This record gives sequence, C-alpha cells and structure tokens, in this order.
Amino acid sequence: MAEGESKSDRLSRVQQAFVDEGAVQCGICTPGFVMTATAFVEKHKGQKVTRAEIRRGLAGNLCRCTGYDTIITAVEKSLEDDT
Ligand code: FES
Repeated sequence: MAEGESKSDRLSRVQQAFVDEGAVQCGICTPGFVMTATAFVEKHKGQKVTRAEIRRGLAGNLCRCTGYDTIITAVEKSLEDDT
C-alpha cells in the first residue's frame, strides 16, 4: 500500500483510516487515493471541511468498487485525527 507514505513500519494516519473505514476493496485505486488524501489532509489541517469539499479534493481519482462513501469517511476521520 503506497510504500513511502508511512514514515515507519506502521501505516500512516490516512492509510489506517482507509483500512478502518473499509475504503479498500480491490486496491487498484488505493495508492492514488491515499496520496491525494494525504496532501488534502496536510492542506486542510485544523479546518472544518465538508464531504463535498473532500469529494472535490479527491477528483481525478476513480474507484469502481467502493462507491466513494467509505473513502470520503476515511478522509474525514483523518482530518479529525489530525486536529
Ligand atoms: S477499491 Fe477497487 S477500484 Fe477502488
């Protein structure tokens, strides 16, 4: 899962949120989503962000499995954990 995203042998905050929220199914889209989500979380630290804004922030990444809701929830969780 996106080597280099984590600074240790543990999953990054965003990676763990994807696992916890069931935002990973086949995994083909996951590295792109995790990298984009990580940049989004870094940019919006401490800010109140809507699900629509998260969805726009992840635009350009496509997932054929999850229906996106679990991915958006994972990013929300990452933002909450990061404040
Ligand atoms: S988890 Fe399969 S394409 Fe996103």
